[in-house]
Amino acid sequence: MKFFIDTANIAQIKEAHDLGILDGVTTNPSLMAKEGIRGEEAIAQHYLAICELVDGGDVSAEVISTDLEGMIEEGKKLAAIHPNIVVKVPMTKDGVKALKWFSDNGIKTNCTLVFSAGQAILAAKAGANYVSPFIGRIDDSSWDGVQLIEQIAHIYSLQGFKTEILAASIRNPLHIVKCAEVGADVCTCPLDAILGLLKHPLTDIGLAKFVEDAKKMQADTAAVK
Ligand code: G3P
Repeated sequence: MKFFIDTANIAQIKEAHDLGILDGVTTNPSLMAKEGIRGEEAIAQHYLAICELVDGGDVSAEVISTDLEGMIEEGKKLAAIHPNIVVKVPMTKDGVKALKWFSDNGIKTNCTLVFSAGQAILAAKAGANYVSPFIGRIDDSSWDGVQLIEQIAHIYSLQGFKTEILAASIRNPLHIVKCAEVGADVCTCPLDAILGLLKHPLTDIGLAKFVEDAKKMQADTAAVK
């Protein structure tokens, strides 16, 4: 399973990248706006900075238009910023047409705002490279987000669809583990959820004991000298 970070924050992307486990980045208009990025030129510069930082990993950049022509024009401009840009397109009727157009014209896509297996089938049929089910938001509505990932994984494998399942709207480390368990191809996570995977009290207790005993060992070595 690939690890993407779900943020437009350069410091957080760098921290995840420095861990050596980062495969890519996803952004959305809310995440970009949160970083104070305003205007077409600043948006393009920011995507370029992210692409250069993750070097080689896919970077999802979302279209803001909601009509077919607007999405295509915007997607072409986004894709021209860097070869690793993946154009993120919403799951709407025009979005499906845009996915097909991008797929026919060699532009990689990520179909976003997916909340059902039916939508995931449409995204795959339209040639999306990634499909993004929002599992946290599904859980927030008291449905089961991980179950949807499992259902899509089952359908895609049965039908031979090549679209990669990118589990999005991840809220915690358990979401990541569960997504890995049911066959997500990618998890896009906030930095906190990634770092949360590190945590176990027995690791901390065990390390404290090893450090303590190592000090004794060093003291014994000094006594021998
Ligand atoms: O990029 C889409 C996504 O991951 C949204 O997450 O936490 O806003 O539901 P969230």
